[in-house]
Amino acid sequence: MKINDVEYKTIWFDEEKQVVKIIDQTKLPHKFIIKELSSVKDSINAIKTMEVRGAPLIGGTAAFGLVLAIKENNSLDFIKKSSEELVASRPTAINLQWAVHRMNNKLSFVEPGNLFNVALNEAKEICKEDEAFCESIGKNGLNIIEDIYNKKKDTVNILTHCNAGWLATIDWGTATSPIYHAHKKGIPIHVWVDETRPRNQGANLTSYELNEEEIPNTIIADNTGGILMQRGQVDMCIVGTDRTLSNGDVCNKIGTYLKALAAHDNNVPFYVALPSSTIDWNLKNSKDIPIEERDPKELSHVDGINKDNKVDKVLIYPEKSKSLNLAFDVTPAKYVTALITEKGICEASTEGLNGLFKN
Ligand code: MRU
Repeated sequence: MKINDVEYKTIWFDEEKQVVKIIDQTKLPHKFIIKELSSVKDSINAIKTMEVRGAPLIGGTAAFGLVLAIKENNSLDFIKKSSEELVASRPTAINLQWAVHRMNNKLSFVEPGNLFNVALNEAKEICKEDEAFCESIGKNGLNIIEDIYNKKKDTVNILTHCNAGWLATIDWGTATSPIYHAHKKGIPIHVWVDETRPRNQGANLTSYELNEEEIPNTIIADNTGGILMQRGQVDMCIVGTDRTLSNGDVCNKIGTYLKALAAHDNNVPFYVALPSSTIDWNLKNSKDIPIEERDPKELSHVDGINKDNKVDKVLIYPEKSKSLNLAFDVTPAKYVTALITEKGICEASTEGLNGLFKN
């Protein structure tokens, strides 16, 4: 996808400098800064501070984090310790644990002298695969948008929450990929972008990337979706997910559940787009998903651009007030119209997912 008309991926390996390069998402939309990660510590820090975020992208960053770990010290002990620290850096999104596990499987029984090259190739492969999967999600989701357009013969209004765009993946995005595909096909689209407090990924990232691709969009406060649905101004919702259980329950950015309830009450279809790396085939009960509780300062302080053109933080709550910052919630499968995956579209249920992935 493009920024200022230049094609970018969200992460890549600079062969000459032997470092990983990322777009620092904490500075967007005000500053476009490419940052270098040269150690596993840098990678962990980038994930923790959300310089990179979004389930597939933190998976890719963890894979490259292990490449950097091996560059520093290729002993088994260091690889094991780095793997554990990477997995603990953000607990909810399953892609992180999936990528670290896949890297470790690939590295077992590899001669010490080959570890770096094998790890680098596998990290690149994880990213290439994610890009291909997100592109397929787009082609599959395009059919849904096209059906709505064929019936309506007018602009399709899509509501999305958080950023499940190309900035959350390697390219294309999950929820945005069908939108980008529909736009490229000439279907008129308008996106309602949930601001997504407290980190404002909708306003800062989704709206930003849609603008760069010239897709009409409007930022709304998180509580506005309900009235828009009651007024018939939303044709469909598409969101991403950080972890989807094999029974179809969807864990995603805090506030997704409330949007799904409003969609259900107003007969608005509610889709979830995901690559298979986001499916947790092991956990059976959504109550067991570790829900990240982040620093309350993310609620009480807001980032903006100050008069010196620098990104700055300001306090917006009473200094003595307490706040609780849960980062994700779970939408039960019964509120999800369907899952859009790289293999096709299926019901959010064990039967639906098994039909696509287990047969
Ligand atoms: O906290 P974040 O920004 O990493 O959370 C990401 C999300 O919850 C997104 O909505 C997304 O759908 C999951 S990644 C495609």
